[in-house]
Amino acid sequence: MHTETPITLGQTEIRTLPLGIGTWAWGDRFFWNYGRDYTAEDIKAAFQTAVEEGITFFDTAEVYGMGRAERFLNEMTADTQSPIVIATKFFPFPWRVRRAAMRRALRQSLKRLGRSQVDLYQIHFPWPPRSTDFWVSTLGDLVQEGLVKAAGVSNYNAEQMRRAHAILQAKGIPLASNQVHYSLLHRDPEKNGVLHACQELGITLIAYSPLEMGLLTGKYSPENPPGGVRNRRYSREYLARILPLIGLMREIGQGHGGKTPAQVALNWVICKGALPIPGAKNARQAQSNAGALGWRLTDDEVAALDQASEGL
Ligand SMILES: NC(=O)c1ccc[n+]([C@@H]2O[C@H](COP(=O)([O-])OP(=O)(O)OC[C@H]3O[C@@H](n4cnc5c(N)ncnc54)[C@H](OP(=O)(O)O)[C@@H]3O)[C@@H](O)[C@H]2O)c1
Repeated sequence: MHTETPITLGQTEIRTLPLGIGTWAWGDRFFWNYGRDYTAEDIKAAFQTAVEEGITFFDTAEVYGMGRAERFLNEMTADTQSPIVIATKFFPFPWRVRRAAMRRALRQSLKRLGRSQVDLYQIHFPWPPRSTDFWVSTLGDLVQEGLVKAAGVSNYNAEQMRRAHAILQAKGIPLASNQVHYSLLHRDPEKNGVLHACQELGITLIAYSPLEMGLLTGKYSPENPPGGVRNRRYSREYLARILPLIGLMREIGQGHGGKTPAQVALNWVICKGALPIPGAKNARQAQSNAGALGWRLTDDEVAALDQASEGL
């Protein structure tokens, strides 16, 4: 078991270890092949192992597995004494144009989750037809009504995030988090102002796909590419191009008592001040990802990883 100090989610009272678990794959057949590559038993074991490792922050969404991920969480949290923090999301489908649509979606999420309040409710994308102002102010109302403890956004650029922060601030509510794609292979938040704005405003950057959908574990290569949708997304050339980075991650991990590339990838995100939420489909993956806690890369190692991943 690791020793790790919890962090606060933005300027809220929500506490979590600096690593959570993402649940997109929990019940998703289309992208992740649920039901064939892994089962409900695997998912339950992933949850249980994570909780045994002290991980209490679970990221989900109404659309994950078409509600299945939220239902899994309901089932599994009923069997644990640990206080579990649930972060779910509202999807701004184009036909959702009225404020009442968000309240209705939230009530359905709460029902699936078996809760009367969501810890963190996030707007999944800043998509039209409604404006940032429209959905963020509605989210603020739901916080004031007590249905939501903390407000978050996802996939917002720096400008949209600053706007969301200002709208909520006017209601006396902090913007807790912005969940964006951030990994050693996707460092846009460092360059597009999102990470900087998060630090400036006291907002937690929640890093999704921190293992770049499995690529940063080092288990995939041009000879052994991932299957399914990922097969089309990442070319053989790309898998070859990242091999030197994986090699460096292995070498650095060795210097920390045999940490794996996945653990180095997650620790790098933590060192950047963000909260990684790696997906875990089974107990082995949850256990391995928890091994990113309780130690830190040195500044020199972070700099070396920065350099090796530049341009990838
Ligand atoms: N807000 C958004 O728009 C958004 C978008 C994407 C994701 N997310 C959130 O972020 C979470 C994580 O992102 P992600 O699932 O896209 O990618 P990820 O965390 O980078 O990768 C997860 C995948 O990597 C493999 N894996 C995980 N841990 C491993 C380990 N220790 N050893 C070997 N393989 C391991 C598993 O797939 P295989 O075993 O099949 O390789 C797993 O499904 C999601 O679950 C979701 O909660 C949010």
